[in-house]
Amino acid sequence: MTNSLQYRLISWQAACILLVGAIAGFISFFSAFQEAYEFQDDQLIQVAALIDSKILSIAERGDLPVVVKDNDSRFTVQVLGQPGEHALPLPANMANGFQTVDLARRSWRFYVRSLEDGRRVAVGQSTEGRDEVARDSGMRTAMPFLILLPLLVTLIVVSVRKTLAPVERLSSDIDARGQGDLSPLDLEDAPQEIKPFLHSINGLLTRLTRALAEQRRFIADAAHELRSPITALLLQTANVERAALDPEARLRVASLKAGLQRTRNLLEQLLAMARSQSNPQDPIESLSIANVMRQALQECEALAQGKDVTLVLRDQGGQTQLRAARTDLLAMLRNLLDNAIRYSPPHGKVEIGLQASVGEIEVSITDSGPGIAEADKARVFDPFFRVGGSDDFGSGLGLAIVRTIVERLHGRVVLEDVFATAPRGLRVRLILPRDHG
Ligand SMILES: Nc1ncnc2c1ncn2[C@@H]1O[C@H](COP(=O)(O)OP(=O)(O)OP(=O)(O)O)[C@@H](O)[C@H]1O
Ligand SMILES: [Mg+2]
Repeated sequence: MTNSLQYRLISWQAACILLVGAIAGFISFFSAFQEAYEFQDDQLIQVAALIDSKILSIAERGDLPVVVKDNDSRFTVQVLGQPGEHALPLPANMANGFQTVDLARRSWRFYVRSLEDGRRVAVGQSTEGRDEVARDSGMRTAMPFLILLPLLVTLIVVSVRKTLAPVERLSSDIDARGQGDLSPLDLEDAPQEIKPFLHSINGLLTRLTRALAEQRRFIADAAHELRSPITALLLQTANVERAALDPEARLRVASLKAGLQRTRNLLEQLLAMARSQSNPQDPIESLSIANVMRQALQECEALAQGKDVTLVLRDQGGQTQLRAARTDLLAMLRNLLDNAIRYSPPHGKVEIGLQASVGEIEVSITDSGPGIAEADKARVFDPFFRVGGSDDFGSGLGLAIVRTIVERLHGRVVLEDVFATAPRGLRVRLILPRDHG
């Protein structure tokens, strides 16, 4: 959290605003307080002047609390040296001008003035009342700051969020990318400040794409180069098998041949994997999914016959067309059929369904094999992952190839159990959008 730019921006700005707001509030409180104080002093002078000019008259007794504005700013007017019932014990020799005196456990502010008739009058207010008026005035001036500060902080949070929204959008766009999508980031809508950074990332993506392509080409070339010697070795083994061999040697040759066949299968799958990861060599075209499925079934027929597995095609999709490269579609379907037949028990049955809806095509391949345990369902798509106990002929690349192609076609693969108890069988549902742009 503390490493987040958004968090830092908001906290710094909020701290600055709170600090400046507090200082401004403090200053305006004190200047308003001071002003109210001076204003009240002026009022004392004015009341004294009004008395002097006889506009306001004072009783002869001279002890009257005269002018009353309200409870807080009550004036006390007293003629000095003239005793009275309610008179405050003011010293008769108080100097003219402002005085603050403590009387009867209260503090008072007096303005003393000599009148034309020679008497001296003291106009006063209790400091407590004056302070209250001044404090009220100070608070009223500072209140807008107190009310506006939280509003300002909220505005900052909203504006920082809005400003940084393109960065968040960019990161969610990157998160939403398919696994193999290394295409450059779109700089068009990116904020000016992060463009250089995105530019560097794009450079990195380009270098990564090139390195991956080189690596794939190396694997493909290596697999290709190894294919001919392995084929030659298989031919040699077949020749040796034809020779007169004792049973022990025949057994060894058979296991040698099985090993070579496994290696050739691995090389084929490595080549298919490299092909699935690079852009298809044949063009993207509108293909009838049913036609491609029939071709894949033909290619797997020998394997099915060898195990006496029945293949049933239920085409409910008519002549549904899908835009894809033929090699991609064929490799995907062939690998799924190969698995369904290979992992079915002898004399088993594999059902293939084709269904089409407005935007999608669904291919389902259902077998009567052991199925895949829930915990392994995600892992079987990893390259070279094989469930323990599977025959040792496979290389563990088939479903990794399927996943790569499905992602390129913006589709998804779902693995489901057919039955609740073992052998659970496996239904692979391939859901492909008809037009993936
Ligand atoms: N239809 C299925 N029924 C049961 N298990 C399956 C099925 N399909 C795949 N699996 C399991 O998933 C594992 C991975 O399958 P994948 O096709 O990737 O590799 P493979 O079949 O072992 O080798 P190959 O590269 O030759 O296809 C298999 O080893 C197998 O254990
Ligand atoms: Mg396989």
